[in-house]
Amino acid sequence: MKMNLDFCGIPMKNPLTTASGTFNPRAHADFYDLSILGAVTVKGVASTPWDGNPTPRIAEVYGGMLNSVGLQNPGAKAWIREELPFLQQYDTKIIVNLCGHTMDEYTEVAQMFRGVPVDLLELNISCPNVSAGGVTFGTDPKMVEKVVSAVKKEVDKPLIVKLTPNVTDITEIARAAEAGGADALSLINTLLGMKIDIYRRKPVLARSVGGFSGPAVKPVAVRMVYQVSKAVDLPIIGMGGVMTGEDVAEFIMAGASMVAIGTAALVDPQAPVRILQELEEFCDKTGVKDIQEIRGII
Ligand code: SIN
Repeated sequence: MKMNLDFCGIPMKNPLTTASGTFNPRAHADFYDLSILGAVTVKGVASTPWDGNPTPRIAEVYGGMLNSVGLQNPGAKAWIREELPFLQQYDTKIIVNLCGHTMDEYTEVAQMFRGVPVDLLELNISCPNVSAGGVTFGTDPKMVEKVVSAVKKEVDKPLIVKLTPNVTDITEIARAAEAGGADALSLINTLLGMKIDIYRRKPVLARSVGGFSGPAVKPVAVRMVYQVSKAVDLPIIGMGGVMTGEDVAEFIMAGASMVAIGTAALVDPQAPVRILQELEEFCDKTGVKDIQEIRGII
């Protein structure tokens, strides 16, 4: 059973990665060997440290959860000094999610990763929890093309662009990212949602709204991966509500080359181990010899 693949020229032992923001390397490494994954994708990193949003910033809802973390991170300098050496102990590829409030901040953080031994960069223009940057860039095709081409000029690694589902036509945004020079796309980030505490008559999240993720979003994500894979000629990391190995196969059939596990790993930190095993079982059961043979078959 062949699980390995080439993603933007980077050899991956299998198509599984983590979804940015749901993966804490040190915490998850207590539960399983990170080397089982094709790649790990880490929480957004900015050019300077960010505190994130006030709490409460996590809430459970039917079929998933809301978050309004606001891209809390230690900044690129501290991340490279303190977090990268920990990840380098593992035999897995490293994808760093990059965030910024402005065009300058995006290009600055991209420059800070030049010559740094990570494998791919993922441009986060889809976070719904910041009032500047994030989704404010990712919903306007002109801005998408502009920020992607500006960042692309600064990077020395393949550039993945992470797309938001909070748009009318995701294929228009995907084409803009392709025109800007993206090497790959990842989708979906979270759907904008809200929960109200009817007894306190207040929103549950301090910021009122947040990003909705978990199994309930999977049909939206599969539909968008399918549409985007038909619209552009770029490899895709599919994500959104993956809970099982069968879900991974579904994203691959929709057109994804790789698939990220997100909310599932917050419910069960060992989910990636089970999901990989279930994917292998699915392939054995259905006669799939190479995982990529089912890519985009729909
Ligand atoms: C956050 O930190 O607010 C979530 C990250 C994201 O949605 O990109």
